[in-house]
Amino acid sequence: MQMQSLSVGFSSPFSAEVCAGLSHPEQKQLPSKYLYDAVGSALFEVICALPEYGLTRAEERLLRQHARDVVDQLPRPVVVAELGSGTGRKTRLLLEALARWQSTWYHPIEISPTALALCRRELRDINSISIVGFEREYLDGLREAAARRAKGEHLLVLFLGSTIGNFDGSMAADFLRDLRSILLPGDSLLLGTDMLKPEAVLIPAYDDSLGVTAAFNRNLLARINRELKADFDLQEFEHRAVFNPESKSVEMHLKSRIRQTVTIPDAATSFCFEAEETIWTESSHKYSQEELRSLAEHAGFSPKAQWIEAYWGFAENLWIAE
Ligand code: AVI
Repeated sequence: MQMQSLSVGFSSPFSAEVCAGLSHPEQKQLPSKYLYDAVGSALFEVICALPEYGLTRAEERLLRQHARDVVDQLPRPVVVAELGSGTGRKTRLLLEALARWQSTWYHPIEISPTALALCRRELRDINSISIVGFEREYLDGLREAAARRAKGEHLLVLFLGSTIGNFDGSMAADFLRDLRSILLPGDSLLLGTDMLKPEAVLIPAYDDSLGVTAAFNRNLLARINRELKADFDLQEFEHRAVFNPESKSVEMHLKSRIRQTVTIPDAATSFCFEAEETIWTESSHKYSQEELRSLAEHAGFSPKAQWIEAYWGFAENLWIAE
């Protein structure tokens, strides 16, 4: 799912990207980053607690068990930058392990000021950790963090939660290569990746029995209604989670139950949906060991260590910039 961020003639980049995605001739689509407004972020927190969605708990178990092992592998002194600050729960485990050895700068990077403030509040009590966040896109923020480090300090980049899996196809590899180009040889990346697992486990994780993921997905249409004054009838769009064996991804779609037209006055346009036609809203890629090795190599990293949570199937990968 690739979209232009041109907003010429539109009221906002959001409105431009929504219209570009819904105008796509083969498959209507919407960028998954827009799932996370205040409502979507709150729903995502609930998803992380669902019995069917084991990903977040698996990573937390892994870090609870191995945070000290991760820290033991790092060169010191180290400065930490995190792409997406999340709730800070998982990061706390790593920062507390690091704080045993040294005082540390921690730079969360987020486009949402609310998320940054939450993260600061969550982590401010850890002794020896100084927090300076950057309200930026990931790579812009990382450039700032890299520029601030003192001579001799190494950078550890955290990219947890398998967020990399939400980048489409070659975008993930390109992103990792761009990330690497900001680092110096010897810097590290701790990358959380959800591993490939049977469809019978994956589908309920993205189509849970309480309907929270369905609400998370439909909220994207509700957001377009709220922010762009569109008239999506949420009852006429059904949540669908399907596994695409070719791309090894779970895809979320919103399927139109009927033939219908939706108007977006803010963008002065309307879109026609056939019955059964879908809007593709997110892909969540699942990794194999072989693919992780080739991703690291392609981006210019050498894999240094890996910790696996075998119950759910999640890996924490420590890569070193070559
Ligand atoms: C944030 N990201 C890693 C989640 C995932 O599993 O791909 C987003 C998500 N979408 C539906 N459920 C969770």
